[in-house]
Amino acid sequence: MTDLLLKKYNVPVPRYTSYPPANYFSTDFKATDLVTAMAEANEVENNKISFYIHIPFCKHLCHYCGCNSWPMAKKEQVERYINALHQEIDKVCEQIDPKREIAQIHYGGGSPSSIPLHFLQELNEQLLSKFKTIEKPEIAIECHPGYLKEEDWHMLLAAGFNRFSLGIQDFNEEVLHVVNRRPSLLPVAEIVAILRAAGATINMDFIYGLPLQTMESFTTTIEKAIALRPDRLVTFSYAHVPWVNKRQLILERAGLPDNTTKQALFDKAASLLQEAGYQPIGMDHFVLPTDELNLALQAGELHRNFQGYCTRRTTGQVYAFGASAIYQLDTAYAQNEKDLATYIEMVEKGELPTARGYSLSYTEQITREVIETWMCNEAIHWKELAERMNRSVKEIQVAVLVNIPQLQELVADELILWDEQGIEMTPKGKPFIRNVAAALDALMLHNTQRYSKPL
Ligand SMILES: C[S@@+](CC[C@H](N)C(=O)[O-])C[C@H]1O[C@@H](n2cnc3c(N)ncnc32)[C@H](O)[C@@H]1O
Ligand code: SF4
Repeated sequence: MTDLLLKKYNVPVPRYTSYPPANYFSTDFKATDLVTAMAEANEVENNKISFYIHIPFCKHLCHYCGCNSWPMAKKEQVERYINALHQEIDKVCEQIDPKREIAQIHYGGGSPSSIPLHFLQELNEQLLSKFKTIEKPEIAIECHPGYLKEEDWHMLLAAGFNRFSLGIQDFNEEVLHVVNRRPSLLPVAEIVAILRAAGATINMDFIYGLPLQTMESFTTTIEKAIALRPDRLVTFSYAHVPWVNKRQLILERAGLPDNTTKQALFDKAASLLQEAGYQPIGMDHFVLPTDELNLALQAGELHRNFQGYCTRRTTGQVYAFGASAIYQLDTAYAQNEKDLATYIEMVEKGELPTARGYSLSYTEQITREVIETWMCNEAIHWKELAERMNRSVKEIQVAVLVNIPQLQELVADELILWDEQGIEMTPKGKPFIRNVAAALDALMLHNTQRYSKPL
């Protein structure tokens, strides 16, 4: 990639893990709006259910972390939080048509695996007692392997989890040390063997762009990962947002790699993974060719929600529990109160703990589908989209062809191909997938929000 392209396109743009991005959510959106959206959600064609449960606690906080994570609370506070989750689940599930089926349950955080694990089993039992499931629902958990003993992994399997996301970040212990993170307690190969024997899907998270990472050290890390053959692997670009998390300033002082080095780290990882047979998905995911995400990609059926990529089979409307958790319904997003104490108090009073949200206009619902399709499949075919969405091509184009000069520039820079059939990514354009999405986003025309840069 030329420095010129890097300079031109490495500008702040949304990550588009949702559309509109979460910084458009407003406190004008109230719990009553969520109830309306939940009623609407019962009426749509794809009415499978996804549940998201947020466990905010971590034993130690990593300096780089951009998630809503809190230092580990006292036993009684954790119990109070879990009781609030049970109460919230009961209240929300009253709004869901009992004939609907669960496609996915996802625990994120924080570190869901940092609390006594029987709590997770009890939450799963509560959810699964309320609705039927699709065949083989996905029951996923994000795990910090720094604190889990052998029996803990077996307990998680017994609690029903069948998809494990291991936060490795880097195998290099010096890098982990500088970001205040503990390495895996068990050798990762042993964890993989336990999970694989149980037939679980294994994902590993890595971050590039951290202090002390070099081409050599990150190559070793990715080679180690490849030798373990996880089904999926994510290489996150370190998002430096010290105005959200001040602890990140510690990393600035430790010395962050410059943009060119950071990009080179990713390019190297991507080429090693592809040589090893991994199929790239979206900006930063790599999966084995047999993985259902790759099969979905080939069939143009790949989807995404805040929890990551999913297939059309496992995609449902997302109902979210816990502090800061976000609902993703057909007609609205709703985010729960972020502050733990406020969240608990509201739930204990019998209220829905809604803090803010966003009701999507008809046009925004179209844009969301187009941008999600683009971010997942790196291509937009107007006719296919129109058929799937039951709308006219014209209607879709009016919603998203809002910045023609910007799209023309992307064509001139050979980042996309654009003709009457649709828009396609060129290999050169891949790092700038977010910039292309931004060119299809009417809200970016008058944007005043702050975002991280693509690289
Ligand atoms: C909620 S955390 C993972 C679960 C668990 N707490 C752990 O650390 O292993 C989800 C993932 O987000 C990624 N992440 C966190 N902060 C990030 C940042 N500032 N930039 C890029 N990726 C980040 C990490 O790779 C992490 O594994
Ligand atoms: S990366 Fe994981 S363990 Fe570290 S602070 Fe964030 S949520 Fe907690």
